[in-house]
Amino acid sequence: MPSILPASFPRTRMRRNRVDGWTRRLVAENTLTVDDLIWPVFVIEGENRREPVASMPGVERLTIDLLVEAVGQAGSLGIPCVALFPVVGADKKSDDAAEAYRADNLMNRAIRALKAAVPEVGVLCDVALDPYTSHGHDGILRDGYIQNDETVEVLVRQALAQAEAGADIVAPSDMMDGRIGVLRDRLESQGHQLVRICSYAAKYASAFYGPFRDAVNSGGFLKGDKTTYQMNPANSDEALREVALDLQEGADMVMVKPGLPYLDIIRRVKDEFAVPTFAYHVSGEYAMLRAAAGNGWLNYEKALLETLMGFKRAGSDAILTYGAVDAAKLLRAG
Ligand code: PBG
Repeated sequence: MPSILPASFPRTRMRRNRVDGWTRRLVAENTLTVDDLIWPVFVIEGENRREPVASMPGVERLTIDLLVEAVGQAGSLGIPCVALFPVVGADKKSDDAAEAYRADNLMNRAIRALKAAVPEVGVLCDVALDPYTSHGHDGILRDGYIQNDETVEVLVRQALAQAEAGADIVAPSDMMDGRIGVLRDRLESQGHQLVRICSYAAKYASAFYGPFRDAVNSGGFLKGDKTTYQMNPANSDEALREVALDLQEGADMVMVKPGLPYLDIIRRVKDEFAVPTFAYHVSGEYAMLRAAAGNGWLNYEKALLETLMGFKRAGSDAILTYGAVDAAKLLRAG
């Protein structure tokens, strides 16, 4: 036993620095603040309507008017940015996903409303075709394969429409090859030099997106899985190649997704590239916390803050989490 204790014991007692609150604060290596939070929100058509998401207790889909209110409140709590996801009706889904780039689609109307009413809160917009395709895939499907280059053209039109509507950050989450470069060039040439690109650079084919697909009503439509474009959970070197390419192509921020099962990836990305690195604490991770708390098996608030601190410790600069508003309130209350 003594061989694993420091030779200097009892001169070294690690517990001295844990003995009271002020010392623990003084020696804390990482901090979590409201500035680290991005709140993902779901928008629906209509007015003055909210719908709970069954698999994500505490999360609601909101019509634009209610969304504007909610984002205003998030902004007053100090949350810097929201991530916007539209719930698209079956009648607007098609094989070519044309609704994705319609100037007046739900997403673009929501962006305009948010930027008009709450300009101080950043708006990050998901760029991918899954809300708009009849088969629920992130791209154009032909011969049983998601077509890469053809999809990139549609994604660029989608992102440009978002930029026109006032999006601050466009965030391609589709995992097509080469899309960041094409998009960056097009944004530059179309007068959107300051629109940031947050690339979902290392996005894994994950079971943890299940509740999200319920929330945006794409799960029921999805045929097959996304393993020919999203990454294999077995891989880590490959994530570094994805990030390197996206940075080279002009991404301003990169994301790792999901979060908790991929903390090692966040750490490797941050160490290797030292660029703004975001983590997505995805729907399934949030649902697990809520489900366990709902059964009385853990304390949601404490487990949420501990989880978010884990992301900071792993090297995340910001975290997308459905618990952003809860966390902001807890952090403000101290
Ligand atoms: C769409 C997209 C997904 C998520 C964010 N953007 C789902 C998917 O790729 O199937 C998941 C987010 C979450 O689970 O919280 N491309």
